[in-house]
Amino acid sequence: MAMMVKYLCCCEWIVLCNLLLAVAVSSKSHGNPANDLVDIINRNRTTQRLSQLNNSPGLGCMALQYVEECKGNCTTNNTVNCQPPEDDFTEVFAPNCGVELPTFGIISGHIVGCQHKYLEPSEAFSLVLVQDKKSLSLLTNKTHTEVGVGLIRAHRGPYFWCVLFSSSQTNATFVLENLGEGIKQKKGCYSGTSIPCSSGGPKKSSVFLNNIFIMGFLYIYLLQQLLH
Ligand SMILES: *[C@@H]1O[C@H](CO)[C@@H](O)[C@H](O)[C@H]1NC(C)=O
Ligand SMILES: *[C@@H]1O[C@H](CO)[C@@H](O)[C@H](O)[C@H]1NC(C)=O
Ligand SMILES: *[C@@H]1O[C@H](CO)[C@@H](O)[C@H](O)[C@H]1NC(C)=O
Ligand SMILES: *[C@@H]1O[C@H](CO)[C@@H](O)[C@H](O)[C@H]1NC(C)=O
Ligand SMILES: *[C@@H]1O[C@H](CO)[C@@H](O)[C@H](O)[C@H]1NC(C)=O
Repeated sequence: MAMMVKYLCCCEWIVLCNLLLAVAVSSKSHGNPANDLVDIINRNRTTQRLSQLNNSPGLGCMALQYVEECKGNCTTNNTVNCQPPEDDFTEVFAPNCGVELPTFGIISGHIVGCQHKYLEPSEAFSLVLVQDKKSLSLLTNKTHTEVGVGLIRAHRGPYFWCVLFSSSQTNATFVLENLGEGIKQKKGCYSGTSIPCSSGGPKKSSVFLNNIFIMGFLYIYLLQQLLH
């Protein structure tokens, strides 16, 4: 009998661990809206028979740096009034991200947008970032090869997005030192990485907590079954 209980216990644990793993994996893929936005950009391009753009973590990290500087400049009309100096790319953004300067490529365009309420990536794409001719022509430019997205929320304030395009011809551009391990991402999120958004990013999903709750419930239920 004791053997039997032990055996069941073991099975329960295996089931529980598998479920937890599944939850962890599924919540991870929803953790980074910057990557979702890159996917949306690429889907829009490929349906127009344009090339897919490489998702560059180096560009993504600099896009996040860019919106960091714009955090105070969202008008009541949700337009961004922000012009960081060009030199900031090489003098501020790249060093902050640990982009190896010899690999700094060609930036071929950027789109910045803000919105006072949180939007899903698909809404941010069509309602904020690509809603005029200028941004549409940037999105569909044939010379781009790489893309990076950063997003951040100003303290209790509006949400900011930045898309950076590059037209570098090799794929060894905007290389992050140490594969980006050294970046201390305090706020927001950027594309090209599996790191989910940190505090200050878009609203945290409560899916994970929900799942923990369900798991807890399930576990108690299983225990009860076992003891009867
Ligand atoms: C906001 O939009 C209104 C109407 O389009 C315009 O009259 C006003 O100047 C805009 N304000 C700002 C700060 O852009
Ligand atoms: C943000 O707006 C202020 C006031 O209009 C302006 O002085 C400043 O240069 C802007 N910041 C950037 C990075 O453009
Ligand atoms: C595409 O981007 C390149 C490089 O930034 C620019 O020279 C060119 O005019 C753009 N093409 C279109 C159709 O906008
Ligand atoms: C690409 O995005 C633009 C801007 O949202 C939209 O007008 C256009 O219909 C999209 N194209 C495709 C093929 O999805
Ligand atoms: C770079 O491009 C080459 C050829 O296009 C490809 O074989 C290689 O896998 C790419 N490397 C990376 C890191 O994407």
